[in-house]
Amino acid sequence: MIRLQERVQVRRPTADCYRYMLDMAASEQWNPAVENARKSTPGPVARQSRFEVDYRFAGRRRVFGYELVDTEPGRSLSLRGQGPDASAREHIEFRPGADDTFTEILYTLDLDVGGLAERLQAIIKPWLTAMGHRAMEDLRRALEPSRVEEPGVWQWLRYRALLPAALEFSRLGYQSMPDRGLSDFMDGRIVVVTGATGGVGSVAVSILSNLGFKVVAATGKQDAHDWLRGLGAADIIGRDALLEGIEKPVLKPRWAGVVDCVGGDILVNALKSLQYGGSAACCGLTASPKLENATVFPFILRGVNLLGVDSVELPCEVKQQMWQLLASDWRPALDKLESREVTREQLPDCFTEILAGKLRGRVVVKINP
Ligand SMILES: NC(=O)c1ccc[n+]([C@@H]2O[C@H](COP(=O)([O-])OP(=O)(O)OC[C@H]3O[C@@H](n4cnc5c(N)ncnc54)[C@H](OP(=O)(O)O)[C@@H]3O)[C@@H](O)[C@H]2O)c1
Repeated sequence: MIRLQERVQVRRPTADCYRYMLDMAASEQWNPAVENARKSTPGPVARQSRFEVDYRFAGRRRVFGYELVDTEPGRSLSLRGQGPDASAREHIEFRPGADDTFTEILYTLDLDVGGLAERLQAIIKPWLTAMGHRAMEDLRRALEPSRVEEPGVWQWLRYRALLPAALEFSRLGYQSMPDRGLSDFMDGRIVVVTGATGGVGSVAVSILSNLGFKVVAATGKQDAHDWLRGLGAADIIGRDALLEGIEKPVLKPRWAGVVDCVGGDILVNALKSLQYGGSAACCGLTASPKLENATVFPFILRGVNLLGVDSVELPCEVKQQMWQLLASDWRPALDKLESREVTREQLPDCFTEILAGKLRGRVVVKINP
C-alpha cells in the first residue's frame, strides 16, 4: 500500500470547497493525471454516486471506476476506486479557517498497486508525491480563479525533471482548461428566458433553475405563471416589458445570462441589459429574425457575448455530451414539463394554437401512429 498525504489552503469558504470536490467529475480540472472524468450515475451527486476517471500514467491510459462511499457534508468525503491493476481509497477533509474566509483541504490517497509495482515503491512514490503537489497547486488555482498565475520557468522545469515518465502531465489538469472559472457556482445569478412557455424555453427554465440560477421567465401568457414557477422560475415578467427602452443604446444591467427563443427587439434589449461580460444564447426567431435595432454598444462597453445555438449541424460528439448531461446533471423536471402527441392530421389545429399564442410545452408529432 502506498500512502500519499497532501494539504492545501485555499481562500474560499468550506462549503464551496466541499461542493466543488464532491463532484469527482471536476477532478479533470485540477488533477493533472486525470485526462477525463465523468459521473456515471444519474441525478445529483450523493453517497453511492459513481464516476469513471481516465488516468494517464507514463503514457498509458487507465480507466478507474469510483464510488462515493461516505460524505459528511461540509467536512469530509471518501471515495473508493478500482482500476485494471490497482485500487484506491481517497479521503478528503475540509477544515474551515478563521471566519470561514479560507479552508484547509487535507487529501489522503491509499493506493494498492500489488505485485511488482509494490516492490517498485521507491520509484513510484516520489513520482506520485510530485503529482500530488502539483494537483494541490492546481486545486488551489481552480478554487481561486481570480488568482491564476502561470507556473514560472523553474516550476515548469521542476515538473519535467521530476516527471520524466509523464511528459504529457503538465498539458493536462487545470492549466489546460479553456475555462478556468469552472469552480464558480451559478447560485443566485439572474438569467432571463424569453418565450419561456415554449418547448425550448420551458426546458431551459427547468434546467437553469436546477443548476442554481435565479430564473426570470419572460412570457406573454398570463395564465402560465404558476406553471412556470412550478418549473423553477423565481420571477415572471411580461414579454412586453422587455421591449421598453428600445431607443436607448444600453439599459440597466440586469441579467448574467439570457436564453432567447424569440429574436428581434426582445433579444436586442436583452443584450443591452446584460451585466458586464454576460452572455446571451440566440436560439430562435418566434418574434423576428431581425436584429435591426442592435448597436455595438453593449459589446464594446460591457464586453457581452452573443452566442449562436444550432442543434442540427452540431457535431455528434458534442450532442452526445449534451444528452449525457441532460440525462444526469441537467436533467429537467420531466414530470412538470408539458408535452403531448399529435398525429399529422391534427397539426393544422396545433398551428392555429401556436399563432394564437396558446400553445405551451412540447408537441411530439407521431409520424406513423
Ligand atoms: N437553434 C436551434 O437549434 C433551435 C432548436 C429548436 C428550436 N429553435 C427555434 O427556437 C424558437 C423556439 O422554439 P420552440 O420549440 O420553443 O417554439 P414554441 O414552442 O412555439 O415557443 C415559442 C414561444 O415564443 C413565445 N412567443 C410566441 N409568439 C411570440 C411573439 N410574437 N413575440 C415574442 N414571443 C413570442 C411564446 O412564449 P410565451 O407565450 O411564454 O412568451 C411561445 O411559447 C423557434 O423559433 C424555433 O424555430 C431553434
